[in-house]
Amino acid sequence: MMLSHEPTRILITGSQGMLGTEWAVFLAHHHPEVSVLGTDCRELDITHSAQVERAVKEFQPHWIINSAAYTDVDKAETERDLAYQLNVLGPQNLAEAASKVNARLIHFSTDYVFNGFGHHAWTEKDTPNPLPGNWYGQTKKLGEDFVLRESSNLIFRIQWLYGQKKERFSVLKTRTEFTPFIDQFGAPTWTQDIVKTCFEVMKRGGNGLFHLAYDDFASWYDVYDFVKQEWNLAVQLKPKKSDEVQLPAKRPLNGRLCNQKLKKFLGVSELGSWKTSLKNFLGTLNND
Ligand SMILES: NC(=O)c1ccc[n+]([C@@H]2O[C@H](COP(=O)([O-])OP(=O)(O)OC[C@H]3O[C@@H](n4cnc5c(N)ncnc54)[C@H](OP(=O)(O)O)[C@@H]3O)[C@@H](O)[C@H]2O)c1
Repeated sequence: MMLSHEPTRILITGSQGMLGTEWAVFLAHHHPEVSVLGTDCRELDITHSAQVERAVKEFQPHWIINSAAYTDVDKAETERDLAYQLNVLGPQNLAEAASKVNARLIHFSTDYVFNGFGHHAWTEKDTPNPLPGNWYGQTKKLGEDFVLRESSNLIFRIQWLYGQKKERFSVLKTRTEFTPFIDQFGAPTWTQDIVKTCFEVMKRGGNGLFHLAYDDFASWYDVYDFVKQEWNLAVQLKPKKSDEVQLPAKRPLNGRLCNQKLKKFLGVSELGSWKTSLKNFLGTLNND
């Protein structure tokens, strides 16, 4: 990945978001040799093609990490145009600008590009088919297509993120009762694991599409039950099924992502358990 003698330049979009923040922290701590330009939406609006082209031309990045997206799954059903602009036109603008300066685009997508039918773990060869009632998933699928037009770009499909910027678990400390979904399957993924693994793939010259996931999976109920046990909480967990609640967007039930391709590329036999990572993450939180 290091090119000639000049420092590698990495442009991060959405650098104040959950994943973008993790990227900025990771690169500053572990790769101070890299020249990083972190931008939030005021500094670089990815929906604005001329602005994107200008920023990319000026900074001449070797890599563009796109952490910007429209991520409110339910609101996307009503803010359809905004979600389209961010999740489709944004990646398109970035992919076009990247190719003009020979930069490579790193983009993130989601298990929501699948309809969630069946019980198998989705592979990169499975054809995406987002649920009709999930506009977020549909826009993420369309965004992927633009990024993959350039063969040197990289997409990681990820799911159920948590990290320093947004942790989903302390809510259990404030409730007497909590009702997690018992029929949605996937795995909670620590943003720290995501950026470390992505960077490894980038360094090794990976391209195309990868599913970035642990070796095991769970329901949301399993996840919150794990946290409850770890923190020894009194909260009562009551499982609920997806069809018991009316949310604006439909959720795929089976979001399991198969990590075989990633393991083969990295030459490793395992990528760990979501439980180990979550336990480590919970240990980083202030437990008072
Ligand atoms: N979170 C998950 O569980 C999850 C699951 C699967 C896949 N993903 C994917 O992972 C990626 C990162 O997600 P995340 O959860 O880190 O997202 P996030 O926390 O919602 O961050 C998105 C960032 O994009 C910025 N943004 C909004 N409009 C913008 C614009 N026009 N131009 C530039 N930046 C703009 C936002 O800034 P403001 O806050 O200032 O608007 C925010 O900082 C996304 O591609 C997402 O689809 C996330």
